[in-house]
Amino acid sequence: MENKQDLSNNPTIQQYNVVKQNYTPEEKILLNEIRENLVDLAISSGENFQTDEVKLLNDIKVFLFNRLGDKNQNNNISNEYLDKLSHKVLRDIIGYGKIDSLLQDDELEEIMIIGINKPVFVYHRKYGMMKTNITYDDEQELTDLIDSMARQINRRIDKESPILDGRLSDGSRINATIPPVSADGPSLTIRKFKKDPLTIIDLINSKTISVELAAFLWLCIDGLGVKSANAIISGGTSSGKTTTLNALTSFINPKERIITIEDTLELQIPHEHIIRMETRPSNVENKGELTMNDLVKNSLRQRPDRIIVGEVRAQEAITLFTALNTGHSGFGTLHSNSARETITRLTTEPMSVPKIMIQAIDFIIMQKRIYTPTGVSYRRISEVAEIVGSEEGVIQLNKIFEWNPESDTIENVSISSKTLSQIANLSGKSLYEINKEIESREMVLKYMINHNIHSEDDVNGILELYYANPQKVLNRIVLNR
Ligand SMILES: Nc1ncnc2c1ncn2[C@@H]1O[C@H](COP(=O)(O)OP(=O)(O)O)[C@@H](O)[C@H]1O
Ligand SMILES: [Mg+2]
Repeated sequence: MENKQDLSNNPTIQQYNVVKQNYTPEEKILLNEIRENLVDLAISSGENFQTDEVKLLNDIKVFLFNRLGDKNQNNNISNEYLDKLSHKVLRDIIGYGKIDSLLQDDELEEIMIIGINKPVFVYHRKYGMMKTNITYDDEQELTDLIDSMARQINRRIDKESPILDGRLSDGSRINATIPPVSADGPSLTIRKFKKDPLTIIDLINSKTISVELAAFLWLCIDGLGVKSANAIISGGTSSGKTTTLNALTSFINPKERIITIEDTLELQIPHEHIIRMETRPSNVENKGELTMNDLVKNSLRQRPDRIIVGEVRAQEAITLFTALNTGHSGFGTLHSNSARETITRLTTEPMSVPKIMIQAIDFIIMQKRIYTPTGVSYRRISEVAEIVGSEEGVIQLNKIFEWNPESDTIENVSISSKTLSQIANLSGKSLYEINKEIESREMVLKYMINHNIHSEDDVNGILELYYANPQKVLNRIVLNR
């Protein structure tokens, strides 16, 4: 299946064309036969019926070979054709119909079905918003698609509960609505899961973060083993908060025990010693709900070094801040538009964290998504503010890094950092030594950039090596320069 992007058409919204699935009449008959066989198989094996893709593909291939072989006595069907057809059939059977190829394309960030008789839109990582040549003109077809996704995650969507929010097994997040909530028919928004997460090096390369800021945060997050910094990553919807958080977690010392708590599992953290927790909505009888707050409370009994809360929204905020105030360290993301607003949101309903507790966080990292007139967007860390104390009940912020839109650079705008001074004090090192260490780490990051080392495994490999033996890594860098 190929996707062609026709970029010449329209300067504002570009077209994303999917090559439609075409079957010859003969192939269609075979496809239906395979479907029927599969239904029989599912019925006869009851609850144990599992679609194992590799096995299924093989079964389909054998079936097609036998059936096509019958007709072509001399068995001259090419292996290539058989292969192609089997894959096509497999996607048709276990895939998501018309939009299946969109789900397979890792360059798409989002797939948006807005109703009946309207084009399906996609958000492309490079080209921004695009219109596809796919439409649903049959409401039933769209409802069936949403139903099958709901079934896959053991949920349901109907007139009584017409909104569905969840995560598919491949990690994609789906949100679906059906009439009467959505006026023009069912809607479906799929936020696709990027199979290989953006690493800190990817973020430096795309200028979301500067190498200088990354090295600074690396030292603060690690804290030289004496004080690991706590941070809230704040920004608007889809500004890349979770992605930045995820990339920054690679700086956590591999020795730490991490507990992550999320509504839908999104974080892909490389560490070995990690417990991943996911909230659970109540079941049909309104029982069994596990909230973010339940899980944060529970995590405190699990002796974590680091608690990471996917998105802080409600009561769990107080629990998290209690944890931070009692010597645990943590990260979280939060929806807000400025560092000041982050504090306001944290200290008012429904989070209601007492102001005195706020000082447990060291940094507010603001992330922004900037849209260009062509519809393409880019992300920047727009500000890093340190929480330095409280004066007459007002939390004091010290801006240490700020993005300059004109030069498109992230500038160091402060002469001193409270966190660095604390690390210096507690580790018995001078600020000069601390800054030298930041420089060494900057060198490690630059080495990776210059040598095109950016995949999750490679980056984490080097960071781990650095933790195990920094001098060895630095020596190697000097030799390879
Ligand atoms: N810095 C970035 N550069 C490019 N794409 C990004 C960046 N940050 C996030 N994305 C993409 O944007 C989408 C939303 O990112 P996410 O981190 O989930 O946002 P948020 O948590 O703010 O809602 C994802 O598909 C992700 O891959
Ligand atoms: Mg998020």
